[in-house]
Amino acid sequence: MGHYQSWLEDKEGFWQQAAEDVIWHKPYHHVFSPNDGPYGRWFTGATCNTAYNCLDRHVPDRPGQAAFIHHSEMTGDVTSISYEELRDEVAVFAKVLADQGVTKGDRVIIYMPMLIETAIAMLACARIGAVHSVVFGGFAATELAVRIDDCTPKLIIAASCGLEPGRTVAYKPMIDQAIDLAAHKIESTIILQRAQLPASLNLKDHDWASLVQKVKDKGETAPCVPVAATDPLYILYTSGTTGTPKGVVRDNGGHMVALKWSMKHIYGIQPGEVMWAASDMGWVVGHSYIVYGPLLQGATSLIYEGKPVGTPDAAIFWRLIEKYNVHCLFTAPTAVRAIKSEDPAGKGVTQHDTSSLRALFLAGERADPDTISWAKRHLNKPVIDHWWQTETGWAITGIMRGTEKRDTKTGSSNLPMPGYQLEVLNEEGTAVAEGDIGALAIKLPLPPGCAYTLWQDDERYQQSYLSMFEGYYTTQDAGFIDEEGYVFVMARTDDVINVAGHRLSTGAMEEVITNHKDVAECAVVGIKDELKGQLPLALLSLNKQADLDPQAIEQEVIQLVREKIGPVAALKTAITVERLPKTRSGKILRKTIRNIADGETVKTPPTIDDPESLLEIENVLAKRGVLQLNAV
Ligand code: COA
Ligand code: AMP
Repeated sequence: MGHYQSWLEDKEGFWQQAAEDVIWHKPYHHVFSPNDGPYGRWFTGATCNTAYNCLDRHVPDRPGQAAFIHHSEMTGDVTSISYEELRDEVAVFAKVLADQGVTKGDRVIIYMPMLIETAIAMLACARIGAVHSVVFGGFAATELAVRIDDCTPKLIIAASCGLEPGRTVAYKPMIDQAIDLAAHKIESTIILQRAQLPASLNLKDHDWASLVQKVKDKGETAPCVPVAATDPLYILYTSGTTGTPKGVVRDNGGHMVALKWSMKHIYGIQPGEVMWAASDMGWVVGHSYIVYGPLLQGATSLIYEGKPVGTPDAAIFWRLIEKYNVHCLFTAPTAVRAIKSEDPAGKGVTQHDTSSLRALFLAGERADPDTISWAKRHLNKPVIDHWWQTETGWAITGIMRGTEKRDTKTGSSNLPMPGYQLEVLNEEGTAVAEGDIGALAIKLPLPPGCAYTLWQDDERYQQSYLSMFEGYYTTQDAGFIDEEGYVFVMARTDDVINVAGHRLSTGAMEEVITNHKDVAECAVVGIKDELKGQLPLALLSLNKQADLDPQAIEQEVIQLVREKIGPVAALKTAITVERLPKTRSGKILRKTIRNIADGETVKTPPTIDDPESLLEIENVLAKRGVLQLNAV
């Protein structure tokens, strides 16, 4: 019997068996308690420690095995740290945190690039039961401030800088600005000084290295603190429909059970093998498969600082697979598209020995068939598209490559994983006919490892995910399931767009843009892009003043989004229009704008106020080169 079937037949029994792979301080009373939290909680009554399961438990068996290999194409540094060394460093840094007054349940924001120290900071929090919230380096100070105010951290841990091709990103000024902007007051920060751009520290800032040295000199460490399986391990903010991001909360117990299970069954990684998730620790993929998953499994995880192309070239992925004997690579389709467009003939692949690789996993955005077949052809390995979200923390659909041999289907993100009972519903919440498109919804409860709430906001969780269809979690993705059960994810049903595998909110960009004094109204939509999947496009209508210079305002708006949200928003095109197309009740027709920009056939919505407005938009977009760009 397949795993999915055995889960269907005994849902709790399935996870109870998976839970045997985790070391619990105190066993659970119930595998699942349906009456706790918005939809129930997993492994209630148990206590455990995630850092213990990631490190301490492996030290007796694999003390010298590399836990992390850090390879930086930005600095040329390569560092490896064994399980025993990492356990010791984490225990020391946990003591540093404890000395700063951080205790169980306190929140700590981590704003750091792709370094081993980033994982040390995360694991040190886990060791003492503190709740980390990692913020991606491509977000600006304002975004950081919003997160500070939402999770009210005791401390911020940051590096002095991040390294992007051609520029060094000074983190410290952003931290200072965010602290100034936030209403919640931060008492201290710990700054990891990087040689490329050390920061000047003021009274509240502590130097990472000196704090660590002091604790080491005294020979001190902090022990693992048992926490409830249901206690939060981390908060990870992700884009919603508004400017206020959603603080997705992950627990300790269910998270460990699900990730450890997925390492073996989905990714097929055995202890001692090498996993490379070429993402960023600031995203969910980085949390799950750079840090926690590989360590829970006793594997080696590669932390890569660099890009798929240009640092130094489009062969870097294949070179690193050869150099570090990578068994499983996980990346976003955008990364493969970037490599493919620089090396269409796949020469880089043939020049390297990629025989250690068993499979390439893709997620984060829709994988187009061209990209999948290019990768399959050149790597000659299975390429597995799997679908998941920050909220779920691990794959909703995919292929259990480790323990079951099922075929992939190009264009589909494959089959539901155990724990996920997927249905395609229409607006009334009724299942649609096989093959028809509808809202992809998961029958409650969600499996272990999925977000059980938003930080201190059960109500928003309920509203955002559980209120649309009673008894279901709505994924906010639309798609269909074919006659063989393969799932096709087509598009988001909300205002979230996906740019280069990064999840962004068009609503958040609109909020920033409408704050510009000369902008009367705006609409931001995600339009098709050959490389990044989608790109934001902003249409602006300006206030009526004779001396306004539209071009200058467009540039200011682009700059404003970069300043307020961050460079990752990637807004490069803002276009002034006479007016935005609207319904008679005044709702901006964003979907229609997107269809026009994408060069698709547009049906004039029956509720439109003035059909002429669509023609105007089409003309402006054609004039500004947006239509030609996307009609390819
Ligand atoms: N810190 C600071 N700035 C960052 C950043 C970080 N951690 N990450 C990205 N940025 C900046 C980039 O420098 C860029 O700035 P620019 O406008 O000045 O050039 C901007 O944010 C947009 O970044 P990105 O969309 O990543 O584009 P890019 O042109 O730098 O790189 C790719 C293109 C395809 C190489 C890159 O997007 C990529 O590797 N994508 C894969 C994404 C991925 O792994 N996602 C994780 C989900 S699994
Ligand atoms: P994030 O929370 O940043 O991981 O983004 C989650 C969203 O990315 C999903 O809701 C989907 O819209 C999209 N996504 C992730 N993986 C896939 C996939 N394999 N196929 C299609 N869309 C995907």
